[in-house]
Amino acid sequence: MSDQYFYQPAQGHGLPHDPFNAIVGPRPIGWISTRAASGILNLAPYSFFNAFNYTPPLIGFASLGRKDTLRNVEETGEFVWNLATRPLADAMNASCAAAPPEVDEFQLAGLTPAASKIVAVPCVAESPVSFECKCSQIIRLQGASGAETNSWLILGEVVGVHIARELLRDGIYDTAGSHTILRGGGPADYFEITPDNLFRMTRPSYP
Ligand SMILES: Cc1cc2nc3c(=O)[nH]c(=O)nc-3n(C[C@H](O)[C@H](O)[C@H](O)COP(=O)(O)O)c2cc1C
Repeated sequence: MSDQYFYQPAQGHGLPHDPFNAIVGPRPIGWISTRAASGILNLAPYSFFNAFNYTPPLIGFASLGRKDTLRNVEETGEFVWNLATRPLADAMNASCAAAPPEVDEFQLAGLTPAASKIVAVPCVAESPVSFECKCSQIIRLQGASGAETNSWLILGEVVGVHIARELLRDGIYDTAGSHTILRGGGPADYFEITPDNLFRMTRPSYP
């Protein structure tokens, strides 16, 4: 038997749990608030999420299927990203319930909407960091053959940044002290960023 386990995803992984997103991890969480055209608020976590550009700052997340968040962004062109932290973990998890569109997950999760400065979508008041975003692209994802998937990548430009002052130490954002949570593998695994996991490296110069 080989030392390496090999599989082709199109033919199944053959393991008790898909290792793909556990390997690409832990993944940052896009905790996304939106507002429907009707005005109803929505909040949900998306861990197929990341930042993609500095100027302008762009972030994106993938909706596997047509979910309320995607529909709301299509309707209004706006969303807010909120930082999920250890004290907010239970509320983040509560907000992922497959609730119907008329349910406001801020209420469901016991969270407070705080008015944004630029977009009409509120931030999560309890979260220490939020990005106000305007949608820049919605891309239906394709496989290598060009076949369309049932997933959509939603990209947005960050047009406003809110940071709790306690996370700015001498003006530097304190990632290590943020207690940010990240999604691990398995059905229930998460990791928390803590100062004891910090190490530093500077980029090499060449030659
Ligand atoms: C930590 C976490 C990460 C998630 N990541 C995604 C994701 O990347 N894409 C997705 O479609 N659903 C993801 N989900 C599931 C959605 O949060 C869930 O389907 C939610 O009900 C969608 O809400 P909405 O219909 O209000 O947009 C995730 C759930 C959790 C708890």
